[in-house]
Amino acid sequence: MVILGIDTSCDDTGIGIVRGGEVLANVVASQTALHAPYGGVMPEAASREHLAVIDQVLQQALDQAGLKLTDIDAVAVTYGPGLVGALLVGLSYAKGLAWARGLPFIAVHHLEGHIASSQVAPPFLCLIASGGHTSLFEVSAWGDYRELGRSRDDAAGEAFDKVARLLGLPYPGGPHLSRLAATGNPNAFAFTLPLRNQTGFDFSFSGLKTAVTLLLQQHPDADRADLAASFEHAVVKSLAQVTLRAAAATGYDTLVVAGGVAANRRLRQRFAESGLVAHFPPLALTTDNGAMVALAAQHRLMVTSDWSLDAAPYLPLARS
Ligand code: KG4
Ligand code: ZN
Repeated sequence: MVILGIDTSCDDTGIGIVRGGEVLANVVASQTALHAPYGGVMPEAASREHLAVIDQVLQQALDQAGLKLTDIDAVAVTYGPGLVGALLVGLSYAKGLAWARGLPFIAVHHLEGHIASSQVAPPFLCLIASGGHTSLFEVSAWGDYRELGRSRDDAAGEAFDKVARLLGLPYPGGPHLSRLAATGNPNAFAFTLPLRNQTGFDFSFSGLKTAVTLLLQQHPDADRADLAASFEHAVVKSLAQVTLRAAAATGYDTLVVAGGVAANRRLRQRFAESGLVAHFPPLALTTDNGAMVALAAQHRLMVTSDWSLDAAPYLPLARS
């Protein structure tokens, strides 16, 4: 079974091809340069760019896999959550492709794609930390998810991007901040950890961003590398503390860390030393991509195609 997966939920046009768990192609056309001057994603421009490049991205994915369109057995696509205009491009494209070729059409939740990206079999605990989401899920089986906690404000990646901007780094700032942090002292500045007294498993990152803003106002000459390292240290410590507490409370010893922030070196190191069996998707599958959508679709091939399905910009994965 060869599955084509499409993700246009935000600012990357991703198309991947998967056969029996093997990723045959994973092509992502990034819109970073388009949005960089604005310091964030411009929704209308994102939709137009998806439309402009999606044909090419499909052809590149087929070339990479050494396949033709006639070799595809099913078409999967992210239908939410995300930017509605951006989602609609991928969704309509996938429906058209599947309908024209008489193939099954499988709608996938974006977060289910991230959960499937590491190809670990459930049960496990899954921390998704990306630019748009920071959530902790109990994954008992494919399709059976319980959200244990989520960010009450900014997502972890969003906090990385905002603090990177304060430090004068280019957009998206996560990887840049992380590189700068590698040269700094993580103990130079002690930030108060968010939600220290909670009994639940939520996250919060906007307070850390405010702390960095205030620090820069009071000490404009503060060492940027030390600040980056201390901020990164605080985010990683907070993600790890909540996740390890949730693992202890639920009894899971297998952890999957997914989403763009799972590319972070310090975060990987922290979880590798945590005592849990920690899995990370390959780097190419951490940020948004189409292959993860195809991987998630493998687990729902029995679902009948719903051609009337609409894009769902707000779409919880499970009850909280
Ligand atoms: O999963 P993703 O592509 O987007 C969403 O679905 O939102 O994740 C992108 C996010 C950005 O905020 C980016 O700054 C962050 O992941 N990111 C990182 C690193 N690489 C990407 N954050 C920290 N350290 C990294 N190495
Ligand atoms: Zn994502």
